[in-house]
Amino acid sequence: MLEIDGVSKRFGDFYAVKNIQLQLDQGVYGLLGANGAGKTTFMRMICTLLNPTEGEIRYKGVPIIKEGEKYRKILGYLPQDFGYYPQFTAEEYLLYIAALKGLKENYAKAKTKELLKLVSLEKAKKKKIKTFSGGMKRRLGIAQAMLNDPKVLVLDEPTAGLDPKERIRFRNLISEMAEDRIVLLSTHIVSDVENIANEILIMKDGQIQTTGQVEELTEKLQGKVWKCLMTHEEAAAAEREYPVCNRKKEEGGILLTMISENKPGLNAVTVSPSLEDVYMYYFGEEVSAE
Ligand SMILES: Nc1ncnc2c1ncn2[C@@H]1O[C@H](COP(=O)(O)OP(=O)(O)O)[C@@H](O)[C@H]1O
Ligand SMILES: [Mg+2]
Repeated sequence: MLEIDGVSKRFGDFYAVKNIQLQLDQGVYGLLGANGAGKTTFMRMICTLLNPTEGEIRYKGVPIIKEGEKYRKILGYLPQDFGYYPQFTAEEYLLYIAALKGLKENYAKAKTKELLKLVSLEKAKKKKIKTFSGGMKRRLGIAQAMLNDPKVLVLDEPTAGLDPKERIRFRNLISEMAEDRIVLLSTHIVSDVENIANEILIMKDGQIQTTGQVEELTEKLQGKVWKCLMTHEEAAAAEREYPVCNRKKEEGGILLTMISENKPGLNAVTVSPSLEDVYMYYFGEEVSAE
């Protein structure tokens, strides 16, 4: 449905997005990558806010740039740095955005009511946005992106700043909305995509490193994730050599979980890989540098 055909974006001589080749059909796609990976740049191109330097994006076979307004009618977007109007109430805000989107008044009213219910803001609809928690603002952000009942819904870091409870609520909301549309959401938090995305896209240095369902990605790492009880000295050496997924102090020393092609220690045993381990495999150096 949405074809990303050899898409790159260059700023000066720096490629923020490099040669992405993807086909997105209905479902939830989790774009997972560290800060600076190129997620926002990629999403802005899908939303026609940026033109690719190379390549083309097509929706149902038609270049989205050519479709213009027609494509934007079926598009919903929650930007990463979403701006709110603090003095508006939730309801006023949705009606205002609906008017900006050119939606008919009757439809806008009915849809606003429906969405306030969907994102559990019904009771707060007369409250000013400035009194909202982070989670409430995010849910309102999703509601505004859903006003036109989009076929392509793009959510850039929708879970940033949410507490664990809000996160769970958010995940449930997304899976509810995913029917009958393409949902693309970006995050640098593994657990946020692990349970809701049908397909994970791992992005690093502007490129899609790998794609697949959670099981497919973890399968590739089978036999490469090791657990090993080590002395402090051994553990320190291992941490310099391998990406370390977990480190736990135990009575007999340090229990390390690490990624290695070969057995990293005499008493090392393989463990079944998680999506966290997959992330570590691709971003190991960056994570240890932090
Ligand atoms: N308008 C721009 N001009 C120059 N560099 C940019 C611009 N926008 C983004 N970049 C660079 O492109 C890279 C990817 O940025 P971004 O798409 O925001 O990544 P992410 O959303 O994954 O954190 C970063 O190195 C960023 O500094
Ligand atoms: Mg970003």
